[in-house]
Amino acid sequence: MSAADEFASELVAGLRATPRAVAPKWFYDQAGSELFDQICELPEYYPTRTELALLQRHAPEMAECIGRDAEIVEFGAGASRKVRLLIEALASPRRFVPVDISVEHLQAAAARLRDDHPGLAVLPVGGDYTQDLALPAPLGRRIGFYPGSSIGNFEPAAAEALLRRFAGLLQGGGLLIGVDLVKDPAVLHAAYNDSQGVTARFNLNLLARANRELATDFALDGFWHSAFYQPALRRIEMHLVCRVAQTVTLRGERFAFARGDSLHTENSYKYTAEGFRQLARRAGWAPRAVWQDPQGLFSLHWLEPA
Ligand SMILES: C[S@@+](CC[C@H](N)C(=O)[O-])C[C@H]1O[C@@H](n2cnc3c(N)ncnc32)[C@H](O)[C@@H]1O
Repeated sequence: MSAADEFASELVAGLRATPRAVAPKWFYDQAGSELFDQICELPEYYPTRTELALLQRHAPEMAECIGRDAEIVEFGAGASRKVRLLIEALASPRRFVPVDISVEHLQAAAARLRDDHPGLAVLPVGGDYTQDLALPAPLGRRIGFYPGSSIGNFEPAAAEALLRRFAGLLQGGGLLIGVDLVKDPAVLHAAYNDSQGVTARFNLNLLARANRELATDFALDGFWHSAFYQPALRRIEMHLVCRVAQTVTLRGERFAFARGDSLHTENSYKYTAEGFRQLARRAGWAPRAVWQDPQGLFSLHWLEPA
């Protein structure tokens, strides 16, 4: 199935469902990836700068956990900015294999990395890490890197299944994973409702992408961006809420939106460090080191197969 057919069939299923929902992986076409890169620079978006600071400060300890001559596979690599700090601390990893669903953006990031590290073998793999992923035969020990707290986009049971999948792909190697922590809801609210409206544009890009790739007719100015924290579920929810009633056509099917109707586009679960370690244990991993910033905003975990 082509990527567009897959997007269409998931969007149709999501629009037929009650409540309406679609997976956040569909945010990431080229425009979505560029908007995400802008989010990473926002003053309110603490996760990127906090995780980068943790890597800057603790990369030598992380490199010690990873060991020499490893092949690093990064799941959802995006701009591959964070891995640079690991690559420098590791001195000479065998190869870097960035995996991402947003292929054009992935290729451009890989080219920049090759320019900056001429001695480093970089082999980008375009694909969806939640589906069958054709990784190249490993060059030495394979280690996983999964920053950005993308694990938070999955319901806890799906997160557990994904961690098991990664264990299979890593063939006995460890996983360095970034996890966003439970914190003051006001800090979370600001991070997903930035004053420049970049997160709103990122959210709305899902509908813009559907219009571009699937010839749907969403009226983009007929939707609000809505993001809020659900303390009982410890998650941020992101929605697109209809402000002007409309009927949208997708692959011949018509979907009516009344004012106030919502399309749920993302969850971002927050964990305590111990809560995440328990999840990792249930998924067959042995949690080892944890690094956190002094304010307890974000964490990086080193997991080994149990
Ligand atoms: C939140 S961004 C994180 C980017 C980067 N790792 C960071 O920490 O800044 C998520 C990245 O994962 C990619 N992605 C999302 N879902 C994916 C999937 N199912 N398979 C492969 N890549 C995915 C997106 O294209 C995007 O580049």
